[in-house]
Amino acid sequence: MYCSQGYANRLHLVHLLMVISFMVSSHGSDFNKDFAVTWGQRNARIHDEGRLLELSLDREIGSQVQSKERYLYGRFDLEMKLTKGESAGTITSFYICTGGVNHDELDFEFLGNKSGEPYILHTNFFINGTGSKEHQFFLWFDPTEDFHTYSILWNPFNIILYVDGIPIRVVKNNMEYGIAFPMSKPVHVYASIWDAEDWATQGGRVKTDWSKAPFTAYYRRFNLSNACVWNDGETDCGINPDWMDQELDWWSWMTLRWVQMNYLLYDYCTDMKRFKNGLPPECLIL
Ligand SMILES: *[C@@H]1O[C@H](CO)[C@@H](O)[C@H](O)[C@H]1NC(C)=O
Ligand SMILES: *[C@@H]1O[C@H](CO)[C@@H](O)[C@H](O)[C@H]1NC(C)=O
Ligand SMILES: *[C@@H]1O[C@H](CO)[C@@H](O)[C@H](O)[C@H]1NC(C)=O
Repeated sequence: MYCSQGYANRLHLVHLLMVISFMVSSHGSDFNKDFAVTWGQRNARIHDEGRLLELSLDREIGSQVQSKERYLYGRFDLEMKLTKGESAGTITSFYICTGGVNHDELDFEFLGNKSGEPYILHTNFFINGTGSKEHQFFLWFDPTEDFHTYSILWNPFNIILYVDGIPIRVVKNNMEYGIAFPMSKPVHVYASIWDAEDWATQGGRVKTDWSKAPFTAYYRRFNLSNACVWNDGETDCGINPDWMDQELDWWSWMTLRWVQMNYLLYDYCTDMKRFKNGLPPECLIL
């Protein structure tokens, strides 16, 4: 029902303006300023004058941060480096969510694995409280070796997920076909690490090895300046929200196809066994 946070639901004047925007962006990202720890206080540590966030999961509790502001549309970028070595049973996430009942949510969830085995990037989309719209991928790099940029672009036309600028998934606005699309409720931005040993790794067969805890992930260089800040019904989209009408061009579609052909592991729209009474309507639109 609510955001999948792990604890609640285990599965669960152009030059002048340019100068100002340069000054704003040159501040860089400061986790202390823009995020609050909302779960597992002792396991969320901020270093390097706000530039680096460390989230851990120990036997008792994981950790989570939430953006202080809410946003209605935006491009949200974040660099992440996942737990090295043993990470089975853990989920490290970056997501946007409206909260509340009938929530809308878009997730990057990294499913950990046994030492030396690959992570799965699990993505899901909830609209009005209904999820089960998963796409899963293997990555073309080791996400524990270095930081990589994960981005969620959400505008009135589509939602696009990017890994290092490469589109991996698109959710189109198909309202014209009567399919709901998130357009009215503002989101918070979240990052978290939590235990989901009942399903995360090899379908839940491999459990968390607590002798290897704590499990730690690192986050840096978030960028929330390409998003519309929502304040009591008013939105401020900044100076030049060029992402607001962004859709995939021909080249990006080809890149997306490449990702899907080589790295897509699971697509709910092809899971006939699961949807015995017919695929969800959005799967039938080309
Ligand atoms: C955020 O993105 C904008 C537009 O791409 C860029 O100009 C700015 O430097 C970025 N800010 C940070 C902190 O990376
Ligand atoms: C959202 O779901 C609730 C019931 O769960 C329903 O009453 C409402 O009409 C739905 N809204 C939309 C926009 O689909
Ligand atoms: C873990 O590794 C196994 C074996 O390589 C693989 O089948 C599985 O998809 C990997 N990822 C997860 C999250 O289970």
